[in-house]
Amino acid sequence: MPMKKMTLLGGLTPARFLEQYWHKKPLLIRQAMPGFKPPMGRDALFRMAAREDVESRLVTHFNQQWKLETGPLDKLPPVKKKEWTLLVQGVNLHDDAADALLREFRFIPDARLDDLMVSYASDGGGVGPHFDSYDVFLLQAHGRRRWRIGPQRDLSLRDDVPLKILRHFEPEQEFVLEPGDMLYLPPHYAHDGIAEGECITCSIGFRAPAFQELGEAFLQFMADTIDLPGRYADSGLKPAARPAEIPQPMLAQIADQLAKVRFTEDDIAIFLGEYLSEPKATVFFNPPAHPLTQGAFTRNASRRGIALARKSQMLYRGKHVFINGESFVAGRVDKRHLAALADQRYLAGAVVADASEDLQEALFTWYQDGWLIIGNDSEK
Ligand code: SIN
Ligand code: CO
Repeated sequence: MPMKKMTLLGGLTPARFLEQYWHKKPLLIRQAMPGFKPPMGRDALFRMAAREDVESRLVTHFNQQWKLETGPLDKLPPVKKKEWTLLVQGVNLHDDAADALLREFRFIPDARLDDLMVSYASDGGGVGPHFDSYDVFLLQAHGRRRWRIGPQRDLSLRDDVPLKILRHFEPEQEFVLEPGDMLYLPPHYAHDGIAEGECITCSIGFRAPAFQELGEAFLQFMADTIDLPGRYADSGLKPAARPAEIPQPMLAQIADQLAKVRFTEDDIAIFLGEYLSEPKATVFFNPPAHPLTQGAFTRNASRRGIALARKSQMLYRGKHVFINGESFVAGRVDKRHLAALADQRYLAGAVVADASEDLQEALFTWYQDGWLIIGNDSEK
């Protein structure tokens, strides 16, 4: 079946977009989201920036001086003052409309989607010419922003400012984005967006962990997983001529034992699922204030279905299912239901009613933890 063409991608199918643009070249999509309204207004965004559990930054460029302040930010410059920007990360974790917007991009796997950042800029505001290490969709949400972009080779940065700002920015193209317009940029593509009047921009961000970071986390995971019974012994020990030297037979025996540390693709799948579904440090779930008993939960959920909470990340691979940093092995039928829950982020009541006792128990625990809710998306 041919994939649906999307206004979101300017009439391209996701397959075409990924083949021709993803990681390769920028794409400007006029009216990717016709009639688009920002998930939240300026004042709601300012209130979010003051919260302890929200990551935010303030960038000012007053009197030609770049300054950076990290949140929580309870005092912001007046909106009439020019050249400042507020950037709020992970808005999707706290707001349903922002969550729904991020999920429009699920033609890219959840394992790669990071978060929705929303920025507010006063007239002339921006974060300076820079590049990012990740792909990004920059969706204009309110007001106008002028983007200058270029594929530049010289990625050297200024060392006299507290932000990542290119030393020699050489833009090649320039566009003014209106609400609903969107610009896709591949990693390392230089860009500078300047607000023309006050504006709000949404950035759909992706995650691409560094191999070093993955390797270190994997070794920690393996430390909890390895099983090496027994203890060093040397029944054939000879008198030491050089007492400080580590004996060769000791080295050989330990090398044999350490060579037993092996990992399979299954270990890697479990590691990756736990790693990628682990909530960020700022994420706290909201368990129900008056939780139902397990019986009442199952009766209710069997009628109304269940939905993953906004902050839940659920992934799967083979027989393994991962939710919020924990992994499970499920039987074939349970696995099918759990995969449906992960893909659709919703499971119909009839399926819950039909689920095994084990699965109903797991769902109840997740409900108590605030990882899922009874009802469908619109009731979140
Ligand atoms: C912004 O929204 O102001 C910055 C987005 C970016 O350039 O990465
Ligand atoms: Co950027």
